[in-house]
Amino acid sequence: MEFRHLGRSGLKISEIAYGNWLTHGSQVAEDAASACVAAALEEGITTFDTADVYAGTRAEEVLGRALHGVRRESVEIFTKVYWPTGPGVNDRGLSRKHIMESAHASLRRLQTDYVDLYQAHRFDHHTPLDETMRAFDDLVRHGKALYIGVSEWRADEIAAALKIADEMGLDRIISNQPQYNMIWRVIESEIVPLCEREGIGQIVWSPMAQGVLTGKYAPGAPPPAGSRATDERGSAFISEYLADDILSRVQQLRPVADEAGLTLSQLAIAWTLQNPNVSAAIVGATRPEQVRENVKAAGVQLEPAVLKRIDDILGPVVVSDPAQTASPPDRP
Ligand SMILES: NC(=O)c1ccc[n+]([C@@H]2O[C@H](COP(=O)([O-])OP(=O)(O)OC[C@H]3O[C@@H](n4cnc5c(N)ncnc54)[C@H](OP(=O)(O)O)[C@@H]3O)[C@@H](O)[C@H]2O)c1
Repeated sequence: MEFRHLGRSGLKISEIAYGNWLTHGSQVAEDAASACVAAALEEGITTFDTADVYAGTRAEEVLGRALHGVRRESVEIFTKVYWPTGPGVNDRGLSRKHIMESAHASLRRLQTDYVDLYQAHRFDHHTPLDETMRAFDDLVRHGKALYIGVSEWRADEIAAALKIADEMGLDRIISNQPQYNMIWRVIESEIVPLCEREGIGQIVWSPMAQGVLTGKYAPGAPPPAGSRATDERGSAFISEYLADDILSRVQQLRPVADEAGLTLSQLAIAWTLQNPNVSAAIVGATRPEQVRENVKAAGVQLEPAVLKRIDDILGPVVVSDPAQTASPPDRP
């Protein structure tokens, strides 16, 4: 495993991180979830990402049990707050009340005294930003979160948060968690330049476009049994990637991966790690074999000619409009 700094902080994280969205407490049974976490640890992954909302809060519990007994100093545990965790008007968003309540509930479920990174899962247009930043800072001062990050915030939202933190002497945002892969490149034009200047690292989600970039979905064919596209919840999220044009172009990447001595999933993950502003790629998995395959993307250097061929093949299906980064206008 290779390690990178989380943004401009002293914290090092594994450049391949393991995330449990749609899997723990949902698509996969607990023994498979534990086996994936065990495989991740064996392969040198130290960084684990979850969220209060995943599987209706069950994902944090599953991860907490899977990591139980692991030396706390050997792992970095990341979680998030924003999406609803209950029926109440205050069970969501980034108010001081919900941040404090959700943070404490996450710590209980994860069986830990602190999380290494606490992330705002979206921007909350209905809470003053200084209230959110102050609440996050209090968590840091109390030792319940070591670092603060955001997810899917726009460049102007990140800039506004940095300004408040600097003016009020509060802890600064150290990371952003955006979707980023060979097809979805919307962070490149605005977010990455700002974050490079400000010392904010990207920890990117869906580096394999939810499995599409592994090449296992063939155009015009039914999805393989047991894949996310056949999962009741997962299928809604992956559906936008299952267009025939995308799937046939992904098949054209196969010789590129072969010639680089990589599988398609390794090529996809390695591609995200070529961006120096990326601190880690968060990979999901339903089976330990997937984790073992995926970690081999660590430390891989892709030649400029390989990157050019990827661009030539995927060009027409690449999404790069920065306006695609947006949080719900109203609290969900
Ligand atoms: N901040 C946010 O808003 C946000 C949003 C989404 C995700 N995330 C984070 O990012 C993490 C990763 O997201 P993701 O799961 O969509 O990422 P991904 O790594 O692009 O996709 C993972 C899925 O692809 C399939 N897969 C993985 N390795 C494979 C392999 N070697 N061969 C074939 N199939 C393979 C598995 O699904 P099947 O086996 O079921 O096909 C696996 O669950 C999440 O767990 C979460 O921590 C954050």
